[in-house]
Amino acid sequence: MARKVIQVAVNGVTGRMGYRQHLVRSLLAIREQGGITLDDGAGPHGGTVLYPEPVLVGRSEERLRAIAERHGLTRWTTSLDEVLGDPEIDVYFDTQVTSAREDAVARAIAAGKHVYTEKPVAATAAAARALAEAARAAGITHGVVQDKLFLPGMIKLRRLIRDGFFGRVLSVRVEFGYWVFEGDGIPAQRPSWNYRAEDGGGIVLDMFPHWQYLLEDLFGPLSAVYARQATHVPRRWDEAGEPYQVTADDAAYAVLEFASGALGSVNSSWAVRVNRRELLELQVDGTHGSAVAGLRNCAVQHKVSTPLPVWNPDLPDPLDYQAMWTDVPDNMEFDNGFKAQWELFLADAALGRPFRWDLFAGARGVQLAELALRSSAEGRRVEVPAPGSGPPGEHSAGSNGTGTGTGAHGSGMPSTPAHAAGSSR
Ligand SMILES: NC(=O)c1ccc[n+]([C@@H]2O[C@H](COP(=O)([O-])OP(=O)(O)OC[C@H]3O[C@@H](n4cnc5c(N)ncnc54)[C@H](O)[C@@H]3O)[C@@H](O)[C@H]2O)c1
Repeated sequence: MARKVIQVAVNGVTGRMGYRQHLVRSLLAIREQGGITLDDGAGPHGGTVLYPEPVLVGRSEERLRAIAERHGLTRWTTSLDEVLGDPEIDVYFDTQVTSAREDAVARAIAAGKHVYTEKPVAATAAAARALAEAARAAGITHGVVQDKLFLPGMIKLRRLIRDGFFGRVLSVRVEFGYWVFEGDGIPAQRPSWNYRAEDGGGIVLDMFPHWQYLLEDLFGPLSAVYARQATHVPRRWDEAGEPYQVTADDAAYAVLEFASGALGSVNSSWAVRVNRRELLELQVDGTHGSAVAGLRNCAVQHKVSTPLPVWNPDLPDPLDYQAMWTDVPDNMEFDNGFKAQWELFLADAALGRPFRWDLFAGARGVQLAELALRSSAEGRRVEVPAPGSGPPGEHSAGSNGTGTGTGAHGSGMPSTPAHAAGSSR
């Protein structure tokens, strides 16, 4: 069986996402399982086995060395130029702070590397689109992390949609958030740059790219957004215990319209106390049934088992509404979503194929964040261009946003990469 090493520069590997999700739970986990078998038909016993070799990139030599030694890795550097100038390195991955991404990704594209990146791809839709155009012109494989598509709860929900459980979908309600400590007593659970607009912070730029790909994959294209952002907690304490002024939004309340006629309401907040089963919950109500899906769970209530509530504040309500929902069972194995997407990206990069969730798809996510911020600033409803009707998603026919992504192969997983179907190259 042929074996091929693919060298992956991971920039920002000392960060929360870079270390835990991308290095440990994805790249190292892929190595531990023995690599990825490519569908390239090489050899009688299957395809070539692809084995990722991470090269750690960051700003602190000491911290990089510590990570490398902890995991038996041999190569790290604080020089982006060094990795971009090295022809042995195949893939550049960016999981830096958002504000540092655009420049580094542009340089990686110019150096001819395959590029994979965390979201948001850039701070503006125009910048994200320019990166996507450059990547297409360079003929590289390019992609953006869209991990929420692979959450077990969302996979179950996608299966319900595909199987027609809901009838006609009427509305979608997203509740996302938790209390992020201010940092003066208990340390904050999120890095302080998230609360500084000048450093690429803000919950709209952070979360609306997720809402775009997740909701359009499940329910088809969005057509309009009204949003109101807020900064509820104006003063916080940073990693060094120093107080600072919050300059970015820490909550946003939005109403979304879908081309199908369905309506969505999306509450995102880092200043809310959790009274839900999970940190993210998405309720779908349809003519034939409803569901509440989270990171792992998905509870359903069908039309035939819907109770008959009667409004009477004079008496205790005899109905136990929570008990009338049924959990969809875990009837398949769920891999880590970041890892699942890494496997698909590395396979496409190794074979020189386009990747379904490409930088054009990433640009559409930034576009929704930008439109939501505009809606909030101007106090009005803003239309969302149809996918394929113009910037920035026009080349992303194979990407989500087309409303066709209701899963393939009976698994409820996002459709496998559309190698043949409308790539961006
Ligand atoms: N897909 C998801 O679910 C998800 C979740 C959280 C964050 N993210 C994204 O991942 C990226 C990293 O977020 P994180 O929470 O890991 O952040 P973090 O602060 O923990 O890590 C940021 C990394 O960027 C590096 N860096 C480079 N230039 C920097 C600068 N000028 N200032 C500070 N750090 C700098 C840091 O050294 C660190 O390695 C962000 O773009 C964020 O939007 C994605």
